[in-house]
Amino acid sequence: MSVTANSPLAGQRILLCVGGGIAAYKALELVRRLRDAGADVQVAMTAGAQQFVTPLSFQALSGYPARTTLWDSAAEQAMGHLELARWADRVIVAPATADLLARLAHGLADDLVTTLCLATEAPLAVAPAMNHRMWKHPATVANVELLRSRGVQVIGPDDGPLAEGESGPGRLAEPEAIVAALAGATAPAAGAGPGLLQGLKVVVTAGPTYEDLDPVRYLGNRSSGKMGFAVATSAARAGAEVVLVAGPVQLDTPPGVQRVNVRSAAQMRDAVNAALPADVYIGAAAVADYTPRAFSPNKIKKTGTGETLALDLVRTPDILAEVASREDAGLKLVVGFAAETNNVADYARQKLEAKRLDLIVANRVGVPGTGFESDDNAMTAYWPGGERDFPPAPKLRLADGLVELVAERLRADAR
Ligand code: PMT
Repeated sequence: MSVTANSPLAGQRILLCVGGGIAAYKALELVRRLRDAGADVQVAMTAGAQQFVTPLSFQALSGYPARTTLWDSAAEQAMGHLELARWADRVIVAPATADLLARLAHGLADDLVTTLCLATEAPLAVAPAMNHRMWKHPATVANVELLRSRGVQVIGPDDGPLAEGESGPGRLAEPEAIVAALAGATAPAAGAGPGLLQGLKVVVTAGPTYEDLDPVRYLGNRSSGKMGFAVATSAARAGAEVVLVAGPVQLDTPPGVQRVNVRSAAQMRDAVNAALPADVYIGAAAVADYTPRAFSPNKIKKTGTGETLALDLVRTPDILAEVASREDAGLKLVVGFAAETNNVADYARQKLEAKRLDLIVANRVGVPGTGFESDDNAMTAYWPGGERDFPPAPKLRLADGLVELVAERLRADAR
């Protein structure tokens, strides 16, 4: 067995909860891969899982007896289930069946696996596997969304041939991919040390806002939310309590982050106000500057002769400026972003002053490979009397650098 000493999972204690689906056999390979990454692995199985794979197989691979029931007095004497829940640094449920996802979403504790997941304080990840119709059922969609909103990491499922001869989304992600996803979420921040924002509450906004014109159309922008989600991930890893107010994006909630989904600028403003007071506010969202004066309840029709259509738009609230001017929000540092196509430094410094910010992060947009949508970015942060360049890098790495700068500016007592 080759131990990957460099893996972020090296030395991590991982509790693998195996659900009752045909993909349970792949959980055996998952144990092997996790141990190859240097993790210490214990296994708990549902009654259904034991119909597919034996506890003995997991014991042979993990080196620990697999736990199968709450009512095993010998196993409880060796390590009580609450002790096992405390032992884990990470919990991964794989395969997570539709039934298990529903029970986890609704906080049931009617067997060993659900009890462990409810009792643990460790970050929870689920790797769903089921028939594609079950995966697409509104009940499962809602349960997964609920779990995501609580910071549960959802890994997969893959799209492809399913056990019953059909094809679609529902295949358990490959064990290698599950290990990579867990390692990605566990990796320590490159620049931001753990504990750098310990004890602080950070509110982050991310993504675009959609301003509805009629039941069919909206005004939006190209923000993917990647930068704001990276900032939330990094702040949470640095020990902060993080509330992430997210516009309409398709991204997983970072582990340990409380997410509030919104659609419009007005909704984002309400969610931000509800999340305050806080110590730090970071506005990475690309909030629409204008919204239709009135929403048309019916689809706007083409007129017989009209070649053009004029939209009547009004300004949205400037959430960042409002937050920065609030005396009652407890904020020690207010950070804005500036997306500019030209005169980046000048416009950014103007916004720093006009909105009374402590820090502004400027990035050039409209250039391939950085800014909106891409995985990488490059930015410069400005504050009264200083600036710092962040050369091109993946957004998560830049977020680590920003969190480190936030901690520095807090120490400098910015507000
Ligand atoms: O989401 P990605 O695809 O990762 O791309 C995001 C990004 C990489 C471009 C990101 O770094 C970024 O620059 N986000 C903010 C983009 C933006 O809206 O810039 P702005 O110059 O229009 O707004 C300036 C600041 O005011 C921002 O902090 C914005 O959140 C805030 N604002 C703007 C308008 C408004 N009505 N309310 C606000 O709070």
